[in-house]
Amino acid sequence: MTWLITGGAGYIGAHVVRAMAEAGERTVVYDDLSTGLAERVPDGVPLVAGSTLDGDRLARALAEHSVTGVVHLAAKKQVGESVDHPLEYYRENVEGLRVLLEAVTAAEVPSFVFSSSAAVYGMPDVDLVREETPCVPLSPYGETKLAGEWLVRATGRATGLSTASLRYFNVAGAAAPELADVGVSNLIPMVFEKLTENLAPRIFGDDYPTPDGTCVRDYIHVVDLAEAHVTVARALQSSAGHDLTLNIGRGEGVSVREMIDHIYAVTGYHRPPTVTPRRPGDPARVVASADRIAVELGWEAKHDVEDMITSAWAGWVRTHPEAART
Ligand code: UD1
Repeated sequence: MTWLITGGAGYIGAHVVRAMAEAGERTVVYDDLSTGLAERVPDGVPLVAGSTLDGDRLARALAEHSVTGVVHLAAKKQVGESVDHPLEYYRENVEGLRVLLEAVTAAEVPSFVFSSSAAVYGMPDVDLVREETPCVPLSPYGETKLAGEWLVRATGRATGLSTASLRYFNVAGAAAPELADVGVSNLIPMVFEKLTENLAPRIFGDDYPTPDGTCVRDYIHVVDLAEAHVTVARALQSSAGHDLTLNIGRGEGVSVREMIDHIYAVTGYHRPPTVTPRRPGDPARVVASADRIAVELGWEAKHDVEDMITSAWAGWVRTHPEAART
């Protein structure tokens, strides 16, 4: 098997490439390098620089590398930006996927894994979010992921393409410092940034209906997430006609306050947080039921929040050496 990993030079994609290689699968990275970094692609893995909107380039890459499966991660993923630029998000995330599926079906590639998001659920009013929990996305970003799932499923049903949509919960951590997320748009790096600048980390609201009043999320180590891709890819390979939708989380809720306490323990910084007003659109609690993938494919996460923060911190210190404390 040769897997084309779109977005394979990105934070999550680079971890998927690495996990695939460790499992003995051949990979080719397809990435427009808009946010991806060529140096994240390991030696020996071909890198095709191209957009998922470029059907000819995709068709050539699929043929030249005899691709037998695609893992599609290339997408835009900033919720706030998607509110301001919905057309860009629909073009990249939905039209890009449509063009890719056209190339995939024309080349008769049999397997397709789609990177979706817990953002499809919006503001779920349940303790544990199951795959059948209604999807009511709150942002254009979440809408494009839900529309993407529909497109993937419909194509599978019409053509026999084996498909899986993976709904990622809150991804964190790194397999190695050089693979860490370089963006500062999620809780852990945002707290790192404040602490490094000797400022108070911010809690966006502590009046939510949760045990300590702060939002609760399901954090998943990117190494576990990458291994889930290998498990799913193998399942698609092993028999045709799959049509899977799976949560990828740990099934364990952690509050913002608890995360900040873990960050203090790992980093040695202890500056108390400031509570600011709620960030618009934040649900109080989003925690996965991780049962379906465990029952159907025998996969479950191995790493805890401590591992996520420790490995993310090693990546942060690599790019912010002034943050290190002896
Ligand atoms: C966000 C996206 C979600 C995406 C996910 C992973 C939104 C509304 N949702 O989820 O679609 O799938 O990232 O990329 O943007 N927080 C603070 N202080 C901070 C930073 C964050 O209190 O300095 C809180 C947030 O209010 C939230 C929690 O920490 O309750 C997690 O925030 P974040 O890491 O941005 O992820 P989500 O908002 O859950």
